[in-house]
Amino acid sequence: MPDMTLPPAAGSGAPAGAVLPPDQAVEVHDLRKIYKGTGRAPAKEALKGISLSIPRGSLYGLLGPNGAGKSTFINILAGLVNKTSGTARIWGIDIDRDARSARAAIGVVPQELNLDPFFTPREILDLQAGLYGVPKRERQTDRLLEAVGLQDKADAYARTLSGGMRRRLMVAKAMVHAPPVLVLDEPTAGVDVELRQSLWAHVRELNRAGTTVVLTTHYLEEAEQLCDTIAIVNHGQVVACDSKQQLLKRLDQKELVVHLGQDVDALPEALAACDAELQGSRRIVIRYQPSRARVGDILGAVSAAGLSIVDLTTVESDLEDLFLQLTRAPQAAAVATAHDDEYR
Ligand SMILES: Nc1ncnc2c1ncn2[C@@H]1O[C@H](COP(=O)(O)OP(=O)(O)O)[C@@H](O)[C@H]1O
Ligand SMILES: [Mg+2]
Repeated sequence: MPDMTLPPAAGSGAPAGAVLPPDQAVEVHDLRKIYKGTGRAPAKEALKGISLSIPRGSLYGLLGPNGAGKSTFINILAGLVNKTSGTARIWGIDIDRDARSARAAIGVVPQELNLDPFFTPREILDLQAGLYGVPKRERQTDRLLEAVGLQDKADAYARTLSGGMRRRLMVAKAMVHAPPVLVLDEPTAGVDVELRQSLWAHVRELNRAGTTVVLTTHYLEEAEQLCDTIAIVNHGQVVACDSKQQLLKRLDQKELVVHLGQDVDALPEALAACDAELQGSRRIVIRYQPSRARVGDILGAVSAAGLSIVDLTTVESDLEDLFLQLTRAPQAAAVATAHDDEYR
């Protein structure tokens, strides 16, 4: 494990003007983006009015399927894509009023690797620091390289680095100006499991050191393991946004698996009204809402049908259930119909 000591982030990177660190690291209101059509390609409404507050110090996940609008959102914050309407503040700074300071408060690791293969990690970081106007004496090149475990590769050409090393170099590159907010767009897309773990460790460490981290992902597991707060986006809209715990609580769905003492060839009449399913001849899976149905009543119905219960298990819902429930909700589906053909 490399030494994870990092340059101080939150606070020190705060641009002049921001006296006290803001409660919200990022605040967007009714953000919309329509990509203009070109030639035969029709216009695309990628963001349909997104409002989000990302608390300072959080490890915030923007979770959504491909094409949901995650990169568009990130790229607007990064100043790489022009929004159509709405407002966005980074570290308290409005991106329209003071684009320069807003940009200084954020470091972005884009979805695509974009490193010049003929530069070394040291050169790449120095170049980036130069772009951000970080004076030579304030540069943290060596510490950053050490923090992402690349001190041994400081002077190797970027093209000789493995995929994982390049990703880590991208993280270091996004941190050269010690921004209080770090944004990672799909940090582990196409990355193997082992490297994913080590990248997650780096991200957690950066967050512990005080950096507010925002990451986009379409991997549920990534959001579930890493993030404390999650916004689920689908078709350019936020369909849920809460702490991980609250999101899971909201789901209000459980599964009860009943193992029978005898073979049956159909579901008991009394369970027909429930969301129940006979699996094989001795197993009944019943999905129910804990807020509405009582397990005792369900089991009573099984017994009343003359069936003996030899065992039972309950399964809690996880983020995946919530994700599927929300991204397939009727309202989301209605929004989807118009764009289904373009939906990847
Ligand atoms: N430069 C662009 N021009 C036109 N359409 C775009 C452009 N970039 C993205 N889109 C479209 O906007 C939608 C959202 O894309 P994106 O923000 O990349 O989603 P995500 O990152 O969640 O996969 C998609 O339908 C995509 O095809
Ligand atoms: Mg994307």
